[in-house]
Amino acid sequence: MFSTQKFLSSLAKRQFKRLLYYPSAGNRHGFVTDFNADVIVFSDFRPKSLRTRRSFWRQFRQGAQHEIRLIVATPIARVFQIDRRKWGVFLFMDNNEAVRLIHKSGLRISTFIGVCDGCAEGGNYECVNEMPFFGKILDLMPETGMNYITDHSPYVLDGWERPRNVDNSFVLKNNGYKTSLMNDSVPGFRNRAYEFTIKKQYMMNEVKDPVPHPR
Ligand SMILES: C[S@@+](CC[C@H](N)C(=O)[O-])C[C@H]1O[C@@H](n2cnc3c(N)ncnc32)[C@H](O)[C@@H]1O
Repeated sequence: MFSTQKFLSSLAKRQFKRLLYYPSAGNRHGFVTDFNADVIVFSDFRPKSLRTRRSFWRQFRQGAQHEIRLIVATPIARVFQIDRRKWGVFLFMDNNEAVRLIHKSGLRISTFIGVCDGCAEGGNYECVNEMPFFGKILDLMPETGMNYITDHSPYVLDGWERPRNVDNSFVLKNNGYKTSLMNDSVPGFRNRAYEFTIKKQYMMNEVKDPVPHPR
């Protein structure tokens, strides 16, 4: 039987290294399949039945600007090719389950989208841009660093959609992460979205008093 996790593991062992992950993706962001990555993973737990998953997927696919070839449909996922060169996976599950699956696959997250995740309205019980969830994403960041697109964040924005002086971002900074603002209006999203790069600046043994991620 097809296993989504084994499939992702097989990609991790091949040349498909750059993973983009968008949790709480909804079905209106098919355009994200255009973004620069080798593998693009989405998760959303909204459609619960096989029938609602079918129509959710149809809507999602309509938003894609490029050729989407459905390769495998399982009760919990759609695996597809984008323009015959990138892979996409839509996971109909809780974001935490999706992160576990990515972790087990051995892939690292080189782009993370934390936009309109339902933490204010939309049924999310935690914010994807805050610890503990965001800490799990940072743990999966490759050595080369991560692109981070967000519309709200207590660490790199001043709440919703307002940039903050990133030097004040003590939780990230004290743990050795350096953030830089790259783009202050990423097109396509309903809310104003910002793109940052996050890099691990130095090894943890050089940090005097690291503030642990509150988990
Ligand atoms: C407000 S909607 C926004 C969807 C999309 N990000 C957008 O901007 O159009 C929030 C979505 O997050 C999903 N969601 C909320 N909490 C989730 C969780 N813990 N795991 C998976 N999906 C979640 C909801 O099902 C809903 O589709």
